Amino acid sequence: MTATSAEQRQVLILGGTSEIALALAAALASRDFGLILAGRDSAALEREAKDIELRYEVPVTVAHFEALDPDSHADFWQSLQPAPQGVVCATGLLGDHNDARRDFDHARRILDTNLTGCISVLDQAARHFEQAGEGFIIGISSVAGDRGRASNYYYGAAKAGFSTYLSGLRNHFASTGSRVRVITVKPGFVATRMTANHDTPALLTAHPEQTARDIMRALQGRRDVIYTRWYWRWIMLIIRLLPETIFKRTKL
Ligand SMILES: NC(=O)c1ccc[n+]([C@@H]2O[C@H](COP(=O)([O-])OP(=O)(O)OC[C@H]3O[C@@H](n4cnc5c(N)ncnc54)[C@H](OP(=O)(O)O)[C@@H]3O)[C@@H](O)[C@H]2O)c1
Repeated sequence: MTATSAEQRQVLILGGTSEIALALAAALASRDFGLILAGRDSAALEREAKDIELRYEVPVTVAHFEALDPDSHADFWQSLQPAPQGVVCATGLLGDHNDARRDFDHARRILDTNLTGCISVLDQAARHFEQAGEGFIIGISSVAGDRGRASNYYYGAAKAGFSTYLSGLRNHFASTGSRVRVITVKPGFVATRMTANHDTPALLTAHPEQTARDIMRALQGRRDVIYTRWYWRWIMLIIRLLPETIFKRTKL
């Protein structure tokens, strides 16, 4: 594939330094998608862009993106010329739950990074794709949004809101006969810098490359909502079915 055709199939990756996003970026590049890596750390993004360009011979550019500055998102989207045909939103902040309980500013940072900041930029993409009549949005939410737990209910509330937003957007496009796709990704534990200081069970912790493979399968197939790894669908089904009288006493 030539550089020109890869540019025509360009995907914007928000949260371009995320390990999940970078594994997905490599998988997309290996299928000849050009990429725009967007985020706050320009030096890291430039490094990753060069590496992907060298390995896969597709064009990779970088762009500055700050989720906590929604007023900049319209200009940010306009600055992407040509506009991408797909967007992956991997922006996220786990934060410190106990800090968030003590300090609402920290709670708000968790909510804005995972929810309002993502909605604000994806609205720009959704409007563009709606006019273009095609495009795709992949939103990386979390199983944490499926049921509120004592250990992370600010992050969980933001992810629940994000999953609901993605569901509504998908419903909007499908009900208007649009070809725009919206895919919700619900990872369980993934070994990245986000979870590096957390004791996650080895058997239930995926590598970013496994998560990326599951997402690529969804993009190439017809799935709207995926759990990754697959067993999280069944774990979360059981957790969601637990009666509240029992669930409220658990320490999951
Ligand atoms: N790891 C897991 O177990 C797990 C499980 C379920 C869901 N997820 C979700 O998967 C996605 C990727 O996470 P990850 O595990 O790969 O963690 P990560 O490496 O910490 O990635 C988070 C990304 O979000 C970016 N980000 C944070 N705040 C931002 C802001 N204000 N503006 C712009 N970008 C910002 C970070 O950029 P900087 O480099 O600038 O900080 C980074 O690129 C997240 O949405 C996360 O919630 C992860």
